Amino acid sequence: MTRTNITIRKDPKFMKFGFFDDAAKEYCITTPFTPLPWINYLGNDGFYGLISNTAGGYCFYRDAKLRRIARYRYNDVPGDIGGRLYYIKDQDTVWSPAYRPAETELDSYECRHGMGYTTFNSSKNDVNAKLTFFVPLGSACELHKLEIVNNSSSAKELTVFSGIEWCLWNAVDDSQNYQRNLSIGELEVVGSTIYHKTEYRERRNHYAFFTVNAEVDGFDTDRDVFLGARRSWNNPVSVENGKSGNTVASGWYPIASHSIKVKLAPGEKKTYVFQLGYIEVPREEKWESKGVINKKPAIELINKYNTTEACEAAFDELKKYWNELLSIYHVESKDDKVNRMVNIWHQYQVMVTFNMSRSASYWETGIGRGMGFRDSCQDLLGFMHLIPERARDRIIDIASIQFENGSTYHQYQPLTKRGNADIGGGFNDDPLWLVACTAAYIRETGDTTILDHPTPFNNVEGSEKPLMEHLRRSINFTINNKGPHGLPLIGRADWNDCLNLNCFSEEPGESFQTFGPSEGPVAESVFIAGMFVKYGKEYADICDYVGLADEAKTIRAEVDKVKAATEEFGWDGEWFLRAYDAYGNKVGSNECEEGKIFIEPQGFCTMAGIGQEKGYGAKALDSIYKHLMNDYGIEILAPCYTTYHVELGEISSYPPGYKENGAIFTHNNPWCSVAATVIGDAEKAFDIYKRSCPAFLEDVSEIHRTEPYVYSQMIAGRAAVHYGEAKNSFLTGTAAWVVVDITQAILGVQPTLKGLSIKPCVTKDFGSYKVTRKFRGATYNISVIQDGSGKGLVVDGNAVEGNLIPDTGKKEYSVEFYI
Ligand code: GLC
Ligand code: GLC
Repeated sequence: MTRTNITIRKDPKFMKFGFFDDAAKEYCITTPFTPLPWINYLGNDGFYGLISNTAGGYCFYRDAKLRRIARYRYNDVPGDIGGRLYYIKDQDTVWSPAYRPAETELDSYECRHGMGYTTFNSSKNDVNAKLTFFVPLGSACELHKLEIVNNSSSAKELTVFSGIEWCLWNAVDDSQNYQRNLSIGELEVVGSTIYHKTEYRERRNHYAFFTVNAEVDGFDTDRDVFLGARRSWNNPVSVENGKSGNTVASGWYPIASHSIKVKLAPGEKKTYVFQLGYIEVPREEKWESKGVINKKPAIELINKYNTTEACEAAFDELKKYWNELLSIYHVESKDDKVNRMVNIWHQYQVMVTFNMSRSASYWETGIGRGMGFRDSCQDLLGFMHLIPERARDRIIDIASIQFENGSTYHQYQPLTKRGNADIGGGFNDDPLWLVACTAAYIRETGDTTILDHPTPFNNVEGSEKPLMEHLRRSINFTINNKGPHGLPLIGRADWNDCLNLNCFSEEPGESFQTFGPSEGPVAESVFIAGMFVKYGKEYADICDYVGLADEAKTIRAEVDKVKAATEEFGWDGEWFLRAYDAYGNKVGSNECEEGKIFIEPQGFCTMAGIGQEKGYGAKALDSIYKHLMNDYGIEILAPCYTTYHVELGEISSYPPGYKENGAIFTHNNPWCSVAATVIGDAEKAFDIYKRSCPAFLEDVSEIHRTEPYVYSQMIAGRAAVHYGEAKNSFLTGTAAWVVVDITQAILGVQPTLKGLSIKPCVTKDFGSYKVTRKFRGATYNISVIQDGSGKGLVVDGNAVEGNLIPDTGKKEYSVEFYI
């Protein structure tokens, strides 16, 4: 039986698993039985949590690998058990407001994922429970607010149980070093607070706690006593018996669980605030007395949120925070789906990718790679307008892992901010992304002082040079590393991590990214050529802007050389070539048997304007439609590789239609949409945007399977067994690029070095629309009016030549743009 034949597929009521509630900025999930866990993120800065629509997931402080607070098992069967465990025992019935862990059938269930919070609203046997999870701004803790109402006509005597399973901090050790781990777990219990202090006795100066703002009737910290022999989280013996064991664990599997007896008169409601917190203590203040941890900072944090009012005030503050962030760019068009995605979910997803890079999702375990260089640089492209100050700090962090020669580590660990030596460098697109995000930062803010910021190389103290020097070395790295056709050398890989032209791996287990003579002098990337032309120009513009006219000229000449080389050696007749391999053979050419056409250079070279006079861009886009377009977007290449090619690497390791071998790798779809706007093709631009846009796929959720409010990394291509099925939701560079695409390229509100420019590329059908944009301290109320007059820009009633809104120092501008 193939998966697409399973019964839910045929039942129309399972086409969707919820609905958008735009007014509340929420997605409301109406069943626990989504095809996959549908998740959300909690936390803004430091303390982060992942939470599914059955309250599964985990949390960590800054670094999902090194500072994991709650334990999570990725390969569990069934999946996604564990997480935030709440049970309500009502006589013989035990149920969970999030359906899990008890898995008792509910009378009603609802999960709402909102901006930095998730709520559950469920009922069973005339008891209603509402659970709200969020991380309050500026505090290192999760709050879990539980409201229980007795809707029956008689009194109820319930017992509420909570539960968290502690991770022993380092999530890698935690999942493998059992010979040590099972002896080191330590806790303290004081009143309603359970403190997790494993390894605090030695080198750690942090601990965690789980508390509730009520007197408890019992607690457990020993998992095996809580669960009972051979039982799982869905039926712990202590919950069944309605009685905690009052255990203080020593070693084995430390958990934290409270039990509270709750008496409710008919109609009565009670509210409890649970708090899961993380505390760091200065080394010299670690102990209250011998072996007893210093709880002062924990008590301070606990007291901050130990009333319903304080918890609710913190929740309101979080909502306000998001409302303000989302007021920076706001569109009103007649297309609800566009409004919803632009005003809420695209920007939200960008915040998540900014915070997480590709480290911690339900598909990235948080124990593998940390922050990616190119990933984080690109995430910034869509994040810039939200919190420019954080963007600035991030740019400096990223630039600090660059090597003196302009190349860079490919990844770094967020806690240490050091480059990851296991993967090293040699991904030759990386340096140019630094130029991309810095240029975008300056366009957004006008702040050129960032270019003077003393920034080290490879984090070596004393090696600091102004950030501008880092950008210069990035640009020069491409100039100094070209191959036989005058095109940039690819190195280990370019944006496509799986196009490994210098790898030649024959043994299983070897890393495609790090194996082999990666510095090959022959294999070239047409994609990097496109990047260099685009970002070389942006670098030259910065040079001009800060008065380095000579350098601008030199770089423009270099750009012209690569442009000419690409037009001569990078064009295949109907589309751009992808690369030359280590033998000098073409990759992504009509001459190839498989992998005749790739998406990446079509998007980037067209965005860069390569061959524009010759009509290359329009041809490239037509070819995309002809060879790569499917129902849900543009596939990465066609035809897929059906056998392993040692000279191409990981790309040919995937079965056809998956991942980099022919899936829609959503990240690069907006490149093509932006490219379409560069050649003025509004129809194609909007069509490409819509095809893979999550809200537009909501109605096929049973095929798509991942969350309809965020992008997934890939959607299986036509050659795949499960065509249309998405994978790896949430952490993808698509989020940032799509913000650039729809808000700037299509709707046309574009930050430039000189100010805000209005340059829409919309279809007639899209109609007129309004955008509010806060930019460099002023608010722009923009109306794009499709009246056929073609009058162009009018600012505060005065017609203006061109597209740039002149900055007259006002706080508010009224702008019209007539098409
Ligand atoms: C993954 C990587 C990203 C890469 C892409 C294509 O998403 O995180 O860096 O560009 O795959 O291979
Ligand atoms: C693997 C993944 C690819 C990802 C890369 C990151 O190769 O398949 O998608 O970009 O790892 O290093």
